[in-house]
Amino acid sequence: MSKHDYSPGGRVAVWLYGIAIGLALFSGFGQMPLYNRYYLTSVPGLGWSGNFIALSELHYFAAALFMGLVAWRLALDTRAGGTWSWGPRSWWGWSLIALLVLSGGAKALRNAGVFLPPLALMLLDFVHLGSAMAFMFSGLVSLFRPRKKQYLRGGLA
Ligand code: HEM
Repeated sequence: MSKHDYSPGGRVAVWLYGIAIGLALFSGFGQMPLYNRYYLTSVPGLGWSGNFIALSELHYFAAALFMGLVAWRLALDTRAGGTWSWGPRSWWGWSLIALLVLSGGAKALRNAGVFLPPLALMLLDFVHLGSAMAFMFSGLVSLFRPRKKQYLRGGLA
């Protein structure tokens, strides 16, 4: 039995969580726009990665999948503390997710036509990009750091 067998959704949930974050990072950085500038669009099969609308639609899909999985985990945790082999291990991880969802949600409202003062927009961009970078590096570090036993038993740390 691996640690994933104790975690709700097993390996499927682990893969979906990884795919959601991977797509969010790829589509997010692509919207900056980076991929034309660094010739990623000239790689065969990646010509579309210079299309802002396609990247934005992909980002919204990734964001919805990501928020859906996180909401599912939180809901199960309120029931009786799950055993989790994926997702945040500490308040640092949960804080970054909260910043990503709140700043991302506000940016989505802006895209939907809600007026936000320029200073607020600039702050939102910094918070969203900053928490995305911190989330990416924390995730990379945690890939190489094994989960302590209590995280596999005790649910939300
Ligand atoms: C793992 C989660 C996420 C990562 C790594 C991520 C990363 C990024 C990055 C790097 C950008 C481009 C920089 C910027 O414009 O600030 C971006 C833009 C954006 N993100 Fe996210 N994001 C994530 C989750 C979300 C969520 C949950 C939402 C919505 C609730 C969201 C909504 C947006 C929006 C609306 C934009 C701006 C696109 C535009 O310019 O129209 N993101 N994201």
